[in-house]
Amino acid sequence: MSGLLEGKVAIITGAGAGIGREHALLFAKEGAKVVVNDLGSDRNGGGKGGEAADKTVADIKAAGGDAVANYDNVATREGADGIVWTALNKYGKIDALVNNAGILRDKTVLNLSEQEWDLVVDVHLKGTFLVTQAVARVMKAQGKGGRIVNTTSMSGLVGNFGQGNYGAAKGGIYSFTRVCSMEFARMGVTVNAIAPVALTRMTSDLSMMKGFNNENLGPQYIAPVAAFLASDLSADITGQIVGVQGGKVFLYKMLESEGVTREGGPWSPAEIKEKWAEISKV
Ligand SMILES: NC(=O)c1ccc[n+]([C@@H]2O[C@H](COP(=O)([O-])OP(=O)(O)OC[C@H]3O[C@@H](n4cnc5c(N)ncnc54)[C@H](O)[C@@H]3O)[C@@H](O)[C@H]2O)c1
Repeated sequence: MSGLLEGKVAIITGAGAGIGREHALLFAKEGAKVVVNDLGSDRNGGGKGGEAADKTVADIKAAGGDAVANYDNVATREGADGIVWTALNKYGKIDALVNNAGILRDKTVLNLSEQEWDLVVDVHLKGTFLVTQAVARVMKAQGKGGRIVNTTSMSGLVGNFGQGNYGAAKGGIYSFTRVCSMEFARMGVTVNAIAPVALTRMTSDLSMMKGFNNENLGPQYIAPVAAFLASDLSADITGQIVGVQGGKVFLYKMLESEGVTREGGPWSPAEIKEKWAEISKV
């Protein structure tokens, strides 16, 4: 029986650990040839090394799959080009991209340094832009459509205390996903995002993770959603933000209240105050 992703070439960034590693293992099991990108950082973006990507590739090969390692930094133009080059050099085409690489530098906004802002925004938001652009140019030239799956977060969609940099970057990824889904539609390239919650080294010390374990909230729950969004099964789905928390899969939607229209000119601030309950009613 052939796999869901048989014959496809998929790039997965940050595939040396956590959620990205599970994506890579499942994609390969489903028949994809996988570019396993990871620069091997710790959860705060410190340290580097090829071991993490190499381990994922070795595990894929041991299970009979096909994969190649890439150690580039998604946050640089050279890194993004290097990832694409690895895919084209080894497999000759690109069918799917999962932008997953990420780091944390949690601080309240009052305590956040400019460097901590830049680091996190660069890896998540700029990295997603750079790799997406490099891959989408290849997909356009190939003329056969494609799949792009981004990774946003509850933090970027509804907010989270202490994550001004991370939340802003993930909120940006939400908007970028929407824009790309519109711009790439004519190329047959779908662009969706996953908002995961999973027990990984990134989240293991969060109080919201208490009572959960790898069995009921492990990253293996996220990978099938990525595989679905990277496959032919999701050809008619684009611009969607799919939440995944253990066995629960759901959609995030932007809410717009019906609002109130004032006839005959602009509102006064006092009138807005007076009608606030009606304006904000959903
Ligand atoms: N775990 C969760 O509950 C959760 C929730 C919301 C969003 N996310 C997002 O899911 C993604 C994966 O998170 P995770 O929990 O698996 O984290 P993780 O720390 O286990 O894995 C992240 C991987 O990304 C790699 N990486 C970091 N910077 C990189 C760079 N510049 N270039 C290439 N690789 C880089 C790291 O080396 C690491 O292997 C992230 O984007 C994260 O923000 C996770």
